[in-house]
Amino acid sequence: GVAAKIAPSMLSSDFANLASEAHRMLQFGADWLHMDIMDGHFVPNLTIGAPVIESLRKHTKAYLDCHLMVTNPLDYVEPLGKAGASGFTFHVEVSKENWQELIQRIKSKGMRPGVALKPGTPIEEVFPLVESENPVEMVLVMTVEPGFGGQKFMLDTMDKVRTLRKKFPALDIEVDGGLGPSTIEVAASAGANCIVAGSSVFGAAEPAQVISILRNSVEE
Ligand code: DX5
Ligand code: ZN
Repeated sequence: GVAAKIAPSMLSSDFANLASEAHRMLQFGADWLHMDIMDGHFVPNLTIGAPVIESLRKHTKAYLDCHLMVTNPLDYVEPLGKAGASGFTFHVEVSKENWQELIQRIKSKGMRPGVALKPGTPIEEVFPLVESENPVEMVLVMTVEPGFGGQKFMLDTMDKVRTLRKKFPALDIEVDGGLGPSTIEVAASAGANCIVAGSSVFGAAEPAQVISILRNSVEE
């Protein structure tokens, strides 16, 4: 199968202690740090942007998996590239016109392009981006409505993961929202290999144990 990437969502961390929270998660076995960038417009919540990524980058070499819940992702490519972002995942709902340009610009800034879709968006909408000559390298299937941590996993999104895995055996498929020990089995067996988890990891007495449960489910 495709290698597991466990990505704690820093949205559930103490933002006032972001560097130490990041170090703690890496020590606990995280592969990536998932960074939720929200503009208060594409979603009804406002979080962080390039200045915070730039600050965090000074404290860690970790892969910063940036998830852009913003209306104008193109505006964020240059600042995030400069800030040291690793992955740049934009939403297909706002990129119907310019995804080719977006992918090209993301790569030219040394970042890895990904595309995300909301629970109500049909999976077929991302096919052209994966099949393109200049493709995205990851698809993020949202398993909750984007905007907030701590929501309930939506089981009916798993059909999209299964369809995607069948069609693209080597693709990185990320799931985000409501993932934890009680939902990981269904997501992993559907074919997800990149697992974002916020409240289940940060809310645990032993986050390292949750991270290892997530990893073992993907790798078994
Ligand atoms: C939601 C974000 C998620 C969120 C996940 O819009 O994209 O990354 O932090 O949090 P949990 O794991 O608590 O659902
Ligand atoms: Zn996210």
